[in-house]
Amino acid sequence: MKKDLNGYIGVFDSGLGGISVLKEMVKLLPHEKFYFYGDSARAPYGERSLKEVQDYTMETMNNMVNHGVKAIVVACNTATSAAIEMVRDVFTDIIVIGVEPALKPAAEANDGEILVMATENTLRLDKYHELAKTYGNHVNVKEVACNGLAQAIETGDVDGEEVRVVLHKLLAPYKGEVKSVVLGCTHYPFVKNAIREVLGDDIKFYDGAAGTARQLASKLAEAGKINNEGEGEVIFESSKNDPEEIALYETFLNKSTD
Ligand code: DGL
Repeated sequence: MKKDLNGYIGVFDSGLGGISVLKEMVKLLPHEKFYFYGDSARAPYGERSLKEVQDYTMETMNNMVNHGVKAIVVACNTATSAAIEMVRDVFTDIIVIGVEPALKPAAEANDGEILVMATENTLRLDKYHELAKTYGNHVNVKEVACNGLAQAIETGDVDGEEVRVVLHKLLAPYKGEVKSVVLGCTHYPFVKNAIREVLGDDIKFYDGAAGTARQLASKLAEAGKINNEGEGEVIFESSKNDPEEIALYETFLNKSTD
């Protein structure tokens, strides 16, 4: 992290998944400067110990704060579940936004059985259980821990054999059983097409990316830190320290999540 990040918004994830959230933020806040950090060398976080995820989250956020960011978006459901309270206690002077599986809008829409796809860690930790208790009571919710999926998406080949094999194995039991899917990991919006291939074209998707962008905009406005003019910018960095990885991140910023 070499650059002076004064005035930037730091966004990070275990890897390239957080770019699904970054896309929405860039769309809504075109005059802001974003610094995206993907910890692809240590992904997936979803299958690491709680302590590891907390340590990596703290390390990344410390780096960003030391370089002057004005806000940080934890664009990772797993890191949010593992560490958001902890980091909010430590970083009290900057805006910190986390993400969570979009169960609330899915439950409110109430279009039928809901399948929450997320990492093993996200589904195991208390934060999700509280969310499910609050919003999942009056609806039929099933959960599937998607081991191996984030890693397959990290290859960059979102319609490739590896992604399709993993998804088939994970989702085939739910075919015909669910009407909506909550994408509870920021990597998953990039594989909607492959999910439709298994569950059908009429599945409705819910993810938290647009809501997170709106939340960021309102917190920036509230703090008088929003940029309504000037040129925006997005810079990428990866723990994989490989120019090809940065090129991959750049293509994901333009990849469809429809
Ligand atoms: N993108 C992350 C999330 O939202 C996790 C992927 C991983 O397991 O590293 O949960």
